[in-house]
Amino acid sequence: MMKKIGLLTSGGDAPGMNAAIRAVVRTAIYFGMEVYGIERGYSGLIDDTMTRMEMRSVSDIVQRGGTRLRTARCLEMLTEEGQKTAVSTLERHGIEGLVVIGGDGSFRGAKCLTENYGIPTIGIPGTIDNDLEYTDYTLGFDTAVNTCLDVINKLRDTMNSHERISVVEVMGRHCGDIALYTGITSGAEIIVVPEITYDMDSIVKRIDLSRQNGKHSNIIIVAEGACSADEFAKQLQAVTSYSVRSTNIGHIQRGGSPSMADRMLAAQFGNKAVRLLKDGIGNRVVGIRKNEIIDMDIIEAVSMKKRFNYELYETLQMISM
Ligand code: F6P
Repeated sequence: MMKKIGLLTSGGDAPGMNAAIRAVVRTAIYFGMEVYGIERGYSGLIDDTMTRMEMRSVSDIVQRGGTRLRTARCLEMLTEEGQKTAVSTLERHGIEGLVVIGGDGSFRGAKCLTENYGIPTIGIPGTIDNDLEYTDYTLGFDTAVNTCLDVINKLRDTMNSHERISVVEVMGRHCGDIALYTGITSGAEIIVVPEITYDMDSIVKRIDLSRQNGKHSNIIIVAEGACSADEFAKQLQAVTSYSVRSTNIGHIQRGGSPSMADRMLAAQFGNKAVRLLKDGIGNRVVGIRKNEIIDMDIIEAVSMKKRFNYELYETLQMISM
């Protein structure tokens, strides 16, 4: 059985990362393993900043956003030199396996450690973007969407009073899932996502139709990868007589106490990751599919291309008028 494992969070933080750290640490201790927390993602592996984590190191964090291990986007990890230094840190400390909590970029680092250097590594999907195809949900997505909903509920009040159009920018450089889920659940009439080219004429027609149908205000959700809210609002204001205002939710959607759904995922992902390592299984990622916790080959997982859910997009089109 593996005796010593390392744990890091990498890339953009996501609500629920702390809850996952807690689950990893507590499960490892349950099985009699030593667990080392590596600070600032892969940078901490390269700089050798790690500390042993005990039962009480993860007290009072299940409800906190952010990551107590801190995080970084580490460019050095993309170089052979950086990777070799990271591997030698692990070897020096006798660390036999690694848990990486992060998104797509972080998984590529994990894949490299596993594929090129034979380090058993397990990936836990932690990103608000929900941009990994192999899992239905990533850690932090649910909380981020709920945060966007809070903001939009408030915006609705003022937009309705002034009979305005609200253009709201959410995160998602390459993936429109935050916009899609926020759009459906907030009742937005229109979403603009990187996966679909938008056509301003049909957007204006849709707004006009909704007003003829008795609506007093409109919400348009724009994913950052498609256009900025400011730019989109400018373009729209040039072709509509309704008053348009823009809001960028920004990094607010990356913080905050994780929702029940994210805490539950964190508990299950963290627990599963350590159980795999305990049994000597590395080179896997954990996820959730059809409400079941799954694991799959890390190389296969990172090679899968995220698909946009056009059926949900059509649902929005049908029910939001
Ligand atoms: O990957 C998560 C994410 O929040 C993206 O949605 C966004 O494009 C990016 O990170 C922002 O990164 P940063 O916090 O480094 O500006």
